[in-house]
Amino acid sequence: MRITMIGSGYVGLVSGACFSDFGHDVICVDKDESKIAALEAGRMPIFEPGLDKLVAANVAAGRLSFTTDLKSAVAGADAVFIAVGTPSRRGDGHADLSYVFAATREIAEAVTGPTVVVTKSTVPVGTGDKVEEILAELAPDMDIAVVSNPEFLREGAAIGDFKRPDRIVIGTEDARAMQVMRDVYRPLYLNESPILFTGRRTAELIKYAANAFLATKITFINEIADLCEAVGANVQDVSRGIGLDNRIGSKFLHAGPGYGGSCFPKDTLALLKTAEDYETPVRIVEAVVQVNDNRKRAMGRKVIRALGGDGTTGAKGKTVAVLGLTFKPNTDDMRDAPSLAIVQSLLDAGVTVRGYDPEGMEPAKAMMPDVTYCNNAYEAATGADAVVIVTEWDVFRALDLKRLAGVMAAPVMVDLRNVYPPAEVERAGFAYSSIGR
Ligand code: UDX
Repeated sequence: MRITMIGSGYVGLVSGACFSDFGHDVICVDKDESKIAALEAGRMPIFEPGLDKLVAANVAAGRLSFTTDLKSAVAGADAVFIAVGTPSRRGDGHADLSYVFAATREIAEAVTGPTVVVTKSTVPVGTGDKVEEILAELAPDMDIAVVSNPEFLREGAAIGDFKRPDRIVIGTEDARAMQVMRDVYRPLYLNESPILFTGRRTAELIKYAANAFLATKITFINEIADLCEAVGANVQDVSRGIGLDNRIGSKFLHAGPGYGGSCFPKDTLALLKTAEDYETPVRIVEAVVQVNDNRKRAMGRKVIRALGGDGTTGAKGKTVAVLGLTFKPNTDDMRDAPSLAIVQSLLDAGVTVRGYDPEGMEPAKAMMPDVTYCNNAYEAATGADAVVIVTEWDVFRALDLKRLAGVMAAPVMVDLRNVYPPAEVERAGFAYSSIGR
C-alpha cells in the first residue's frame, strides 16, 4: 500500500516507520523543515527507544521517505493519515484542531483518486464528521472516506505497542475503507491482533474513554496511597492485593506524584469539554483532573516538610536535588511533567533546585531556566539538603547510597516513585519518605 503520514512527531513518525516495516511504502510529511532535514540525515527529532534503527532500516530498504511537500506525498496514496498535534488550547483545555483542519484542506487540494483519510491524532468525538465536511466541500467529486484509527502508544514503548497492540480500533462504516484498513494492518491481522470495527464517533470516544480510565486508575491508587500514609498501610501491597483480581489487573496501580505527559492531561480535559458540550457531565473524570492537579503541588509541600519546613515555608535557602525531570522514564518528553509543578513550588519557597535527567535536560532547560542542571545524580546531590526522585529512570534504581549521603549536606531522600525499600535507605543513614508507605 501507498501510505502518507501527515505529522512526523511522537505518533506520526513511529506509526509511519512501523507501517513501512510492515512492507508498505510510506511518506512522512511535516511542515518543519529542520525536522525533515534531521530525519533525512538519520537523526531522530524525538527520543524513542529503537526508533533510529527502525527508521534507518526502512529508509535503506526504500520504503520510508520524508518530505515537506504534502501535495506530492498525498497524490496516489491509498491511505492518508492525519497525525498532527492536537494540543490543549491555552486557557480552556479544549483540543486545538487547527492543525487537523489545515492538513485536511491541503489533502483536499492534493487528492488524485479514491482515498481513505484516517485521523490518527487524538481528536474529540465528531471531528471525523467535520473533516468529512471540509473534504466534501473542497473536493466534491473525489471518493474520499474518513476513518478514525486512534493510537494507543505509550511513549518509551511506542514501537512495541504498535507492533503488538492489544487491539486495533477502526471507526468507519464505508466498505471500501474497511478493506483498505484491513490491508494497511494486514501483518497484525495475520497475527491475530483483534481489529475492532466500530462507527467513527465510537472509535473517537474509545480513545478518550481509555485514557480517562487509565488516568482514573492511577489517581485512584494515588488517593489510596494518601490513605495508606494516614492509617499506616503499604500502598504497594494494597496495589498487589487488589491487582491480583483479574477484573482490576495489576497495571497502572503504581502510586506516584500524579500523572503527566502529552496525553492524559490533554485527553481528560478534552473529554470534559465534550461532556459539557453535550450536557452529559462525566463527574468522575472531573474529580480525577482536580485531584491530579492538586497532587503535583502537594508533592512540593511534601519535599518542604522533609526539609523541616511546614509545607510552603521554612525551607528558604535550602538546596534540593531533583532526580528525573521527564514525565516518565525512557522519553525526553517534559509535557505536563510532575517535575514542573514540584520544582516551581520549591523555587517559590526559596529553595535552590539542582536537577538531572538522562534524556530530558534540553527540553527541561527551556521550561525551567532557574534550575541548576547537573550531569549525574551525585553531582546534583552535591551539597543538597534533600534528594527527590521524581521520575523512575533505571539509572536511579541502584544509586550508591553511601556515596550519595557522603556528597550531601544532609542525608534526606524523598522517593516519589517508591523506587527503594525504606529499610535499605534508612540503613544508609537517610531520613527517608516515600508514597503511601
Ligand atoms: C498514555 C497511554 O498509556 C497510551 O495508551 C496513550 O496512547 C497515550 O497516553 P503515555 O502518556 O505515553 O501513554 O504514558 P503512560 O505510560 O501511560 O504514563 C502516563 C502517566 O501516568 C505518566 O506520568 C506516568 O508516570 C503515570 N503513571 C503511569 C503512574 O503514575 N502510575 C502508573 O502506574 C502508570
